[in-house]
Amino acid sequence: MSPQRVFITRPILEGGVDLLRESGCRVDVGQPDPNAAIAPQALRRGAREADVLICHLSDPIDREILTLNPQLAGVANYAVGYNNIDLHAATELGIPVANTPDVLTETTADLTWALLLAAARSIPAGHQFVREGRFKIWNPVLLLGHDVGPGGSGRRKVLGILGYGRIGQAVARRAAGFDMVVLAHDPRQRARIDDGHGVTWAEFDTLIAESDFLSLHSPLTPETHHLIGEAELRAMKPNAYLINAARGPIIDEDNLVRALREQWIAGAALDVYEHEPTLAEGLADLPNVTLAPHIGSATHETRTEMARIAARNALAHLRGERAPQGVNPEVYDTEEWKARAARRHEQQ
Ligand code: DGY
Repeated sequence: MSPQRVFITRPILEGGVDLLRESGCRVDVGQPDPNAAIAPQALRRGAREADVLICHLSDPIDREILTLNPQLAGVANYAVGYNNIDLHAATELGIPVANTPDVLTETTADLTWALLLAAARSIPAGHQFVREGRFKIWNPVLLLGHDVGPGGSGRRKVLGILGYGRIGQAVARRAAGFDMVVLAHDPRQRARIDDGHGVTWAEFDTLIAESDFLSLHSPLTPETHHLIGEAELRAMKPNAYLINAARGPIIDEDNLVRALREQWIAGAALDVYEHEPTLAEGLADLPNVTLAPHIGSATHETRTEMARIAARNALAHLRGERAPQGVNPEVYDTEEWKARAARRHEQQ
């Protein structure tokens, strides 16, 4: 019997590839340069020929790709967010899809917190200042930021969390160490908020208007697309910071550039972008924005474990078993999945 073929669009960390090879799979990587996108024709070829597809959040896995291969056993995304995959089409076609949740929760919350502190205390500008040899004497007015803890004003700062899923909750836990007031808004998690852990429910408009730090943690869906637009940016406090380590299109980035340029808000710290990796015109030139290249889950430990999870999901797809981290479990009840599994069985 020929080995099962796993097509990985772009490199993942070795731990995952090892698991696949130890299980006897043949592993092909579509684009070996981790800093380059996979060519559309290479993605199509991989999807057509593979038994299972491991893909990245930057790979558009649309209906056309999913339709190419009636033998495809499943898709394993190397990310927790899966807005790059047409999940509706996958389910309709009987294709299970899986992601890598949980392992990256604390890692992404750490990065969120790093962005928040970096923005509030002008760390990137300070770093640049020292490197350029401009640090000549202690300067009482150099790089004045805003307190995250109560600090000089003695006022407890308000952290607003939009999207109170796993990562939003982990960010809220970190706020306790800074003696912050934590507000959260997430209609899907209404029952979890106000649960006695020091987080208070806020209506959307209240969250926007009262946060000193507004941190976004919603998935990208049609409902959250451009959730933060001109009206919301204008409604924020002039001393507030906006932090986004979720998905770029939640913010209307052109309007964010205006808001930062015209100082409707104090600053922003972003790990994700509306048209990633392209930035809205003018964004990179602004002094009051801190920018990171989508590194929320980027630690050795977490990316290695994500690779293992993606590999375990892929192996489950290949065995025709429920993926440990499936995001469309209803697929297993469909006639399309059963027919797909039968085709694969016949072929083996
Ligand atoms: C994800 O997993 O969705 C993050 O954005 C990157 O790890």
